[in-house]
Amino acid sequence: MSSLDPYRAANLARWDESVAIHAASEFYGVDRFLAGESTLLPLDREEVDDVRGQSLLHLQCHFGLDTLSWARAGADAVGVDFSPAAISTARDLAERAGISAEFVESELYAAPQALSDRLASFDIVYVNLGAICWLPDIRGWAQVCAGFLKPGGQLFVRDVHPLTNTLDEEAPDGELRIAFPAFETEEPLQWCGDADYADTSAQMVNQTSYEWNHSLGEIVTAVIDAGCRIDFLHEQEYTVYRALPWLVEGPRGIFRLPDRDRVPDRRLPLMFTLSARKT
Ligand SMILES: C[S@@+](CC[C@H](N)C(=O)[O-])C[C@H]1O[C@@H](n2cnc3c(N)ncnc32)[C@H](O)[C@@H]1O
Repeated sequence: MSSLDPYRAANLARWDESVAIHAASEFYGVDRFLAGESTLLPLDREEVDDVRGQSLLHLQCHFGLDTLSWARAGADAVGVDFSPAAISTARDLAERAGISAEFVESELYAAPQALSDRLASFDIVYVNLGAICWLPDIRGWAQVCAGFLKPGGQLFVRDVHPLTNTLDEEAPDGELRIAFPAFETEEPLQWCGDADYADTSAQMVNQTSYEWNHSLGEIVTAVIDAGCRIDFLHEQEYTVYRALPWLVEGPRGIFRLPDRDRVPDRRLPLMFTLSARKT
């Protein structure tokens, strides 16, 4: 990993540190997973192709709970992440759960070299929440995803809606105030803080991280230019974690904008799902 720029090197240090915190957190629920629960959202099960007997590549898989849940659902699953702690925890969990899956340590843009024997071989490439904001170049990311797909294979992405990433977290309750760029920028946004999203009581040592936003148009165009045809682009008015401090938690771990005058709030999409196929 010596070739990482300072931004991604700082992100790697923070992600590596987060793994032990996340693996012990209620948010990720390792015990529930080991007891047999799937960590996949019903939405993913509906919108991703039937995985039984299919090869599935999970990019930026963190410590593997979702990768292993896909394997449990019948996929021949491979997870990739640049964090050594994430990959070793994922392998350990696979063993403890008795699930067969492969985990590969690689930076996203280096994945085609790390898995050079698997190019153009996957039925499904899966990318989920909190993934693409860590990547400086969405067009390069789309090339990596498409490069792993067989013709007809599905690229499925579920991530934070780019508009959500533009909002000022510190705005007064419920006010939608734009504070950050909607488009990809060369320089990332810098974040500092010792809190962790999965365990707010944790005190992180590595406090600085860097993110890049990518507009929906940039994402879709990158996927098309990488040789895929879009099946759908869905926008959801909810998300599945507290992306902004003033979101309201509802049943089943769903977070929404606060309702206005008892009318469900439909001001802004908070998450999106995209399905595309390699042509
Ligand atoms: C929020 S997780 C996304 C996975 C999943 N949604 C989850 O919550 O378990 C983001 C993952 O991206 C990985 N990551 C960040 N930047 C990366 C990069 N440049 N190359 C490979 N992995 C990266 C981190 O190590 C982390 O495991």
